[in-house]
Amino acid sequence: MYAVLCSLFQLRGKKKNKCIAAAFVVLMMWIIYYVVYEYTVCGSDPYSFLSEHCFADTRTHSYKYLINEAEICKPLPDNIFLLIVVPSRTSEFEERQVIRQTWGSLAVNNTEIRLVFMLGYRPEIDQQVLKSESETYHDIIQEDFYDSYRNLSIKSEAILRFANTFCSNVKYILKVDADVFVNLPALIEDLRERGGTNMIMGYVFSFRMPFRDQGSKFYFERISYPLTYLPTYLNGPAYVLSGDTPRKLLSVALNTKQYALEDIFITGVVRKRAAVQLIHHRRFDYRKPFVDICWFEHKIIGHSFNKEQMLEIWSQKVQNKTCTTSIRVFYMLHDRLALW
Ligand SMILES: *[C@@H]1O[C@H](CO)[C@@H](O)[C@H](O)[C@H]1NC(C)=O
Ligand SMILES: *[C@@H]1O[C@H](CO)[C@@H](O)[C@H](O)[C@H]1NC(C)=O
Ligand SMILES: *[C@@H]1O[C@H](CO)[C@@H](O)[C@H](O)[C@H]1NC(C)=O
Repeated sequence: MYAVLCSLFQLRGKKKNKCIAAAFVVLMMWIIYYVVYEYTVCGSDPYSFLSEHCFADTRTHSYKYLINEAEICKPLPDNIFLLIVVPSRTSEFEERQVIRQTWGSLAVNNTEIRLVFMLGYRPEIDQQVLKSESETYHDIIQEDFYDSYRNLSIKSEAILRFANTFCSNVKYILKVDADVFVNLPALIEDLRERGGTNMIMGYVFSFRMPFRDQGSKFYFERISYPLTYLPTYLNGPAYVLSGDTPRKLLSVALNTKQYALEDIFITGVVRKRAAVQLIHHRRFDYRKPFVDICWFEHKIIGHSFNKEQMLEIWSQKVQNKTCTTSIRVFYMLHDRLALW
């Protein structure tokens, strides 16, 4: 790159060599600066739970339950294989309804699966309406923190807290956003074959750099996040936790500086500090999915669907849509071409 830059200035021979040498020195100084900077701010083991330097904080999560389903995992949480928790905005009545009618319907009256929605509080939303929704479906959990995008990490802590308090001993917990279509039978089958404890599973992102651009919704200030790279973390829309992790993750989370991006916070920083294993699953695809049930023959989740698309996929499933060989081959290649 520097060689190219130097040639752009049309430097030749010795001058060009000097230019490259100078550029090299600048690059080395820049690297050394960051290494020293990170070391000064974060110490030699930045994610260490014992380290006071970098990510340490002390908070509490003592929000009140406005609506709860304390008995949802009764009589025996050990018998419950999968607890599904969907973070949902208070205003998203229709999105919740779509999940209940589509892939979430498999969780209704299922002895091994539970589905709940985690909500915060918005003063402009009529609590009475939420209460009657809760009385109809018994799947609403609501804490009294202010429900906003910037507070998503609080919502994720609320999920950990709920799982730990009322559903400890379930085998797995799926955190899944409202715009995700889940191939629930495939997920259950995969988890049964896999087993595993002390783990979080999903689509792994590694060697990503934090956004330093102040205009970005995902902005990380250098002062609050001094490292050049983000920790390895999972793509946010859907990930699975083994049932033993919520307790550990919650207690570490409350002793960790909070970031608004919940995937980086929970599955990256907190997970790393809690020494929970990260498992990559290619079929938690993060790329743009196809609105086609046949696509899900190879996938466990697809995200960023709107309500109509979710209903469309479900109706294809209910009508037993036949998948042609050519489309199968196409989707199989698409699956194989995932990065790794
Ligand atoms: C679930 O069970 C209840 C009570 O047994 C029943 O009224 C309801 O229709 C069932 N729902 C589904 C979707 O099977
Ligand atoms: C997050 O929730 C807390 C507790 O309700 C509230 O005080 C705070 O203003 C909220 N923050 C944002 C950015 O919405
Ligand atoms: C789809 O297949 C299932 C199971 O084979 C069957 O019970 C159901 O009736 C079929 N639905 C339609 C619309 O053909």
